[in-house]
Amino acid sequence: MVAAADAAAAHLSVAIDWDPATRSFHLRNDALSYLLRVHANGALGGVHFGRPLAPGKARVELLGREFGGFDNRLGDPIALEYPTSGTGDFRIPAIEVEHADGSTVIDLTYAGHRIASGKPPIPGLPSTYVEDDAEAETLEVDLRDAASGIEVTLAWSVFRDIAAIARHARIRNAGRSAVRVTTAMSLSLDIPDAKWELVQLSGRWARERQVVRRALAPGRHSISSRRGASSHEHNPFLLLQRPATTEEQGEAIGFSLVYSGNFLAEAEVDSHDSTRIRLGINPEQFSWRLAPGEELATPEAVLVYSTAGQGGVSDAYHRLYRERLARGPWRDRPRPVVLNSWEGTYFDFDESKLLAMVAAAGDVGIELFVLDDGWFGRRDDDTSSLGDWVVDRRKLPNGVDGLARKVEEQGLRFGLWIEPEMISRRSRLFADHPDWAVGIPGRHATESRNQLVLDMPRGEIVDHLFGVLSDVLGSGPISYVKWDMNRNITEPFSAALPAERQGEFFHRYILGVYDLFGRLTRAFPEILFESCAGGGGRFDPGLLAFAPQTWTSDDTDAMERLPIQYGTSLVYPLSSMAAHVSAVPNHQVGRVTSLDTRAAVAFFGVFGYELDPTAMSAEDRVTVAAQVAFYKRHRELFQRGRFVRLRSPFDGDGNETAWLVVSADARRAIAGWYQVLNRPVPRVDRLRLRGLDASLDYRVTPWPARGDASGRASGGTRGGDELMSSGLILEGRGVEAVARGDFIARLFVLEAQ
Ligand code: DGJ
Repeated sequence: MVAAADAAAAHLSVAIDWDPATRSFHLRNDALSYLLRVHANGALGGVHFGRPLAPGKARVELLGREFGGFDNRLGDPIALEYPTSGTGDFRIPAIEVEHADGSTVIDLTYAGHRIASGKPPIPGLPSTYVEDDAEAETLEVDLRDAASGIEVTLAWSVFRDIAAIARHARIRNAGRSAVRVTTAMSLSLDIPDAKWELVQLSGRWARERQVVRRALAPGRHSISSRRGASSHEHNPFLLLQRPATTEEQGEAIGFSLVYSGNFLAEAEVDSHDSTRIRLGINPEQFSWRLAPGEELATPEAVLVYSTAGQGGVSDAYHRLYRERLARGPWRDRPRPVVLNSWEGTYFDFDESKLLAMVAAAGDVGIELFVLDDGWFGRRDDDTSSLGDWVVDRRKLPNGVDGLARKVEEQGLRFGLWIEPEMISRRSRLFADHPDWAVGIPGRHATESRNQLVLDMPRGEIVDHLFGVLSDVLGSGPISYVKWDMNRNITEPFSAALPAERQGEFFHRYILGVYDLFGRLTRAFPEILFESCAGGGGRFDPGLLAFAPQTWTSDDTDAMERLPIQYGTSLVYPLSSMAAHVSAVPNHQVGRVTSLDTRAAVAFFGVFGYELDPTAMSAEDRVTVAAQVAFYKRHRELFQRGRFVRLRSPFDGDGNETAWLVVSADARRAIAGWYQVLNRPVPRVDRLRLRGLDASLDYRVTPWPARGDASGRASGGTRGGDELMSSGLILEGRGVEAVARGDFIARLFVLEAQ
């Protein structure tokens, strides 16, 4: 990223040049260059993606000899921008099409291009955007398969201030017969060597987005989802980095897909040790019929280039996704400190219980109360009522609106949980519309968490949901919505689609979700939306375009949250990561950690509590009040500061994590250091900080304030130069070190003098 602080000083530029002599394009900003050329045979080739190159030079070496097709050159690793199969390139293709005669060959050649300022939206799909046309330049290149009339428009937008390029494809049938598109990637990038490591974010429920790293090797390596959601298992993201790349330095390339459904992210190293990366909708369980005149747009992929290590990649994604993917009034507003009812009550509550919790929350400074699952239909457990978005008057005799008003009277705002895409067999909706649930006629429909999925490709279902949810959200002072999705999709089939279009189900499902999300967020712009899918099962850029924050994980244990939040931060900004303090023993792992440790982890995100505050001791309530006050004092920093990773829980034995947030002017920062297990004879340890201003002096205040050695030794005023070369002293000594025990956290507040 071109750092914010540098932006004012440097003269930032963005440009896309077309050189008719060499038939090449040069897309560039101050941090990267992307060179493309039209080869002799009309194929479009990517020539260079990486360090910025000066404009106006011939680049003879880079452009190389012109490629005239694969005849007599089988195996030549020529770089292609939207590769096809069946004409001599045996690597993974970006597009595959089945023609009316059953043949599958397609040969795309250059047909024209346009260069313009700004960045147009992709119809029906979320994407990054600009607020001013000067913020980006866009190149669109039309490619054409002469034999079939299929046309592909590839679009690249290069941002002026961020080392990122957004890319998508639009596939049109300008021929005379219908075709079936069976692969439609958003991005394909050829890189001339394979000396890279591949980093992915993988995990499972309650253990999302763990950092997994391996060396590239010949063959294909992919991560994907076939679950109907981007998934807990893999995030739609890959990172390539040089083996020597660190957090701070070295080359790295990020690949992120703005999509919430079935995706594929794949790397292939061929026999010449060149690397092809492709990213897009998962071709498995996908096909799309294109009748003459129809068009299919792919989701957007966002490429980031950095020579400043993984940290540089994250800086670019954080800024782009926080400022030009998230939208609406809540994009820039401070997010409220919430109390969420889920782990405090589960399904077992009534109005008086909730109002007692609200009163206790108000006493400690919490700003918004979220009523989670269980308020509608007759939902006393998870076996019923999804789809019946009507209040359960047994629990809430005054309705949602009555409760919301009482919460407001107590000085808090009110939020509500919904799970729009789902239907319970035991529900009025299912009794009325059994055919609205996804399933294949004549086959058993598999339940998960006792629920079925609504046929979101059907417009009338989306219309119905928009109507009933608008009624609920418009009924009273509702300021926040948590949109959950608690199962993946089985027996994929839509009653609205003809046989030849059933391959479109998964993509149309997500288009239906985006349609509903878009309509609700437009109708209720003042509501802060948080997305969720059984924790972080759909924590992806697609949903960030509608809901600026996401429930990071159902695992609220502080030690488990360290790797989850650390991994998530590779791509996603702190403003997108909801993080709550919950009760102990923790409900997911049974671990007991201190209240301070739990807060010290949850501060690094959008902060809140998820417990029953009426069950807390008086002493804990005092502690919580101090925590809430601390977070509010530093909220701007926690939610919008630059996040810098210092020590990885994925390195060594994973016993330590450290990170820091720093303001854009580097005058304020908060560092966090965490240790899972205490060890005897602590080493002399200095936590070297980054991102500060070497010329400034900082007052260092440990949090929580305490008298142990780490607090005393690290307090006082220290030079930024010293903090970034020598660092903060972390070790405790003797009995103090023993007294620390396990699961500890130390924060250090740094303020420039
Ligand atoms: C899964 C979510 O991640 C939880 O936070 C909670 O909302 C439950 N669903 C409710 O069913």
